[in-house]
Amino acid sequence: MNALKSIVLRGGKVSFADQGQGTPLLLVHGFPLDHAMWHHQIDFFSSRYRVICMDLPGFGKSDSLFPASEENAITKNTLSMETIADWIAEFLDSIGCSTRVHYCGLSMGGYIGWQFWKRHASRLRSIIACHTRARDDTDLIRRGREIAARQVRITGAKPVADALVKKLFYQGRPGLKSAKFFNQVHSVISTTAPQSIAAGHLAMAARQDASDWLRDIEVSTLFIAGEHDAITPATEMRANSELVPNSEFAILANSGHMSPLENPDAFNATLDKFLASQT
Ligand code: MLT
Repeated sequence: MNALKSIVLRGGKVSFADQGQGTPLLLVHGFPLDHAMWHHQIDFFSSRYRVICMDLPGFGKSDSLFPASEENAITKNTLSMETIADWIAEFLDSIGCSTRVHYCGLSMGGYIGWQFWKRHASRLRSIIACHTRARDDTDLIRRGREIAARQVRITGAKPVADALVKKLFYQGRPGLKSAKFFNQVHSVISTTAPQSIAAGHLAMAARQDASDWLRDIEVSTLFIAGEHDAITPATEMRANSELVPNSEFAILANSGHMSPLENPDAFNATLDKFLASQT
């Protein structure tokens, strides 16, 4: 497993892996997960790339961006896709990463990626959008997130983990519940602070619709979808990819929403081919 490092940014601890040398490959995790969802990619790519992979604020072992008093005020959510995108740019500066990165984000990591493009495009070499969408939430989903943000403060994170593992992974996979990744992800979610889960929900509910930006994205972009993704259907991802001028689309078999863990060999091969074509 990969050695974790830490720095202090804006007064809070950031826990991250920074392994290998070469062109930076930045891996940005989904909600409500941590850097460990990328462990196959850290191992595979760090012999040829500088793989950087942090726990986002409030997730994994990174501190939240909130003072404790604000964390309790649900209406004062200051976490947003924009603030996280800016935080990532500052984080890259702090670890001395000034060259352009391949930005690879999964789901919420992809939502942040559209903002990273909007605000820090000159720092990008390419975008890899995994299991993510450009549009904002429907009203129904937004309302569901607001309810979920209230509930998690009462119930704690365990019921969130129980429900989410049923959506994140391809349920038809034989032996799913005994798969190492299934238990790893359940444990990561169960131990996430309820206020971070709430803040993440509210931040995603308030995110901007990035659909109209897709036609303007000049940087090469790879969309990776899962054949059985119940959260971000492959059809929607393909439609998004068709709007980005310089893009590729891949659909991975035997995968739900989490192909880096569910089908790491296919994920790594797809990403490797794309990265090699970017030189
Ligand atoms: C994620 O994996 O980051 C979440 O499914 C994103 C979301 O809830 O929209």
